[in-house]
Amino acid sequence: MKVIDARTDAAHINELFYQRIPEAGLRNYWHPVALSREITDKPVARTLMGDAVVLLRRLGRVYALANACPHRGTQLSKGTCEFPGTRTLTCRYHGWTFDVGDGSLVAALTDGPDSPIVGKLRVRTYPVEERQGIVWIWLADSPPVPVEQDIPPGLQQATIVRTVRRVATGNWRWHVENPGLGHATMLHRDSAYMRMVDFFGYAEDPQAVLGSQGDDGEWLLDRFGAPGKRAQYPGLGVWPRKRFGELVNITGMMPSLRGIDTFVSVKLPGIIRVINFPIMDSLYYEWFVQTDADHYLYFQVACGYPTTRRERLSWLTRFYAWGRWAGMVRFNAQDLWMVEDSHAKAKADGTNDPAPLYRPDGFQLAWRKYALENLRGAKVTKQQSDSLQAAS
Ligand code: FES
Ligand SMILES: [Fe+2]
Repeated sequence: MKVIDARTDAAHINELFYQRIPEAGLRNYWHPVALSREITDKPVARTLMGDAVVLLRRLGRVYALANACPHRGTQLSKGTCEFPGTRTLTCRYHGWTFDVGDGSLVAALTDGPDSPIVGKLRVRTYPVEERQGIVWIWLADSPPVPVEQDIPPGLQQATIVRTVRRVATGNWRWHVENPGLGHATMLHRDSAYMRMVDFFGYAEDPQAVLGSQGDDGEWLLDRFGAPGKRAQYPGLGVWPRKRFGELVNITGMMPSLRGIDTFVSVKLPGIIRVINFPIMDSLYYEWFVQTDADHYLYFQVACGYPTTRRERLSWLTRFYAWGRWAGMVRFNAQDLWMVEDSHAKAKADGTNDPAPLYRPDGFQLAWRKYALENLRGAKVTKQQSDSLQAAS
């Protein structure tokens, strides 16, 4: 376990952050792109990190290709399957037919079976994998790492996986920097999800710690000390005020889950993990996959671990009756509401640094420093790494 404090070198970290952490997203990682059940023989178009991609299934497997026919540029997602039982996609315009496995042109239907152009060109393909009912894509040119490296063990081991996803307005980087106590005890206080909770107002001694808990790999953990329940703010009064109906004491109800006792954690390429959300016994992950300049896929995954039918029924009942709509849909919509504003500020000013700093911002800065130091495939110069070390 290593405490990361980047506050003393914030200006330098921020400068490197904009140089090295692209607004389009980090390509050298696997990212979730769709649910397995969404991808059928009928092609689906998705824009991912600025790339137009077509996803489709052939002979039971999912494939991804650049969504532009090399002939006249029309979208292959408008294409058809002219040869059922083969691994092909035919362009709707003039019938060029591609092997979706390697992207090669295997026929030009409207030029006859002896068309000389066959075999002469290729459409770009992207590696895709399916795990836990989710389709994962590798958008970099470099050969992919095994997909298991980028899927937290807590998701790989889940016996129930339930996903909510939507297209959000903004930039993935600001959403990765959204979590942390500084926002949670204020922004979410009035959500239906927290309405019955006697929620504390602040916590002492917030610390960002890089470490492993349980068997879920290494994360940047948002640790904090004693929760400050209700406090007298000089000249103002008491905050938070006690509300009618606050029946649940949150500090007394947060047991660890699968060996993890930190409520919120973050890791590359920008995954957030929350324990016991949106229901108890659920390990919850979020991904943010940039699509175009102003939008990203907000991918929320709740994981359960029931082993018996009875446990499974209990988990699913609590999830659908409460956790999904109150937590994943509505509570997290409050985050989207704020991230959109962060994006507007970043577009206007060119930056979105937490400034001036206050103590809870330590977590956001620690994430930036951790991301810079641990980025896969990043060429960090000697001078940069020395300056990061000096700031440790
Ligand atoms: S544009 Fe695709 S075959 Fe002509
Ligand atoms: Fe939040």
